[in-house]
Amino acid sequence: MNKLTIIKPDDWHLHLRDSHFMEAVVADSARQFGRAIIMPNLVPPVRNCADALAYRQRICSALPHGSPFNPLMTLYLTDNTSVDDIKAASESEFIYGAKLYPAGATTNSDAGVTDLKKLGPVFESMQKHGLILQIHGEATGPEIDVFDREKVFIDNSLSAIRASFPGLRIVFEHITTSEAVTFVRDGDSNLAATITPHHLLINRNALFRGGIRPHHYCLPIAKREHHRLALLNAATSGEASFFAGTDSAPHSEQAKESACGCAGIFSAHSALELYAEAFEQQNSFTHFETFMSRNGPDFYQLPHNSTTVSLERKSWMVPESLPYPESRLIPFMAGEALQWKLCQDD
Ligand code: NCD
Ligand code: ZN
Repeated sequence: MNKLTIIKPDDWHLHLRDSHFMEAVVADSARQFGRAIIMPNLVPPVRNCADALAYRQRICSALPHGSPFNPLMTLYLTDNTSVDDIKAASESEFIYGAKLYPAGATTNSDAGVTDLKKLGPVFESMQKHGLILQIHGEATGPEIDVFDREKVFIDNSLSAIRASFPGLRIVFEHITTSEAVTFVRDGDSNLAATITPHHLLINRNALFRGGIRPHHYCLPIAKREHHRLALLNAATSGEASFFAGTDSAPHSEQAKESACGCAGIFSAHSALELYAEAFEQQNSFTHFETFMSRNGPDFYQLPHNSTTVSLERKSWMVPESLPYPESRLIPFMAGEALQWKLCQDD
């Protein structure tokens, strides 16, 4: 098989940043995806409908002329999010969820939620109005081992949220462990998970190959090989609860290559090709379209995209760097060869 044609995919978890930083990366996503869930972790965060609509407008203004790319917005939950904020978001045609960052869990999460128990009325309202909860599922206590944070979050927080709000529709974002795969498989149709291309392609050894590799540092951090294999199995299974979300998270070269480097991997430049690389490893493209283009819209109760994209089998090299304001961006797998290339004529 040398050509793959699939329904145009969507990216169910994307960081674009803002202003000229956003302008530098948005076309990469628009080239490959029909829609994307836009993460709200700006500084200050996207807290309410007015913030989300203004941000969406800035994104749309930065799109290449005539691009059909549709940014789907989310609110950032804080300790002060009100049920009125939730009701208003659920009534907006542009807002598709609210994102839970446990405070301190990751990049720009300082304004996140400090005590999940206080969010009861907000979850209740989301459940009632059918607004999807996107979760960064990592426990934050400084005593918790960084490689255990996802599992501890499942055991100490996510299980309780699911038990208290069984009708709340949840996307467990960027899962990284076999425990998360099992938890989602054991759940009902109100629970789904996104999987990133980098967690399908690298394990934690990649962070230390021949020296420290800051461009492989992201949160949740890559885990052991058996976890990567569990993710690969889930992504290629075709099961309805797993779909693509790149978590592409641009940071400048300087911010990554620093004594305290930022978490985040920029994959938007070749996202679809990276996912194809992962499926190639499993030697199975049977469910590629299902994972990339069907399961996400089905969970979000949106139509599938009406156009297609094609990939051809053709070795090419990911650029060593890409332009970024006052710096450069080092894309995931910079300088390495990929086996599938997006056809430009679609
Ligand atoms: C993301 C970012 O940089 O905004 N970083 C990351 O490592 N994934 C935040 C996030 O999704 O955790
Ligand atoms: Zn993210």
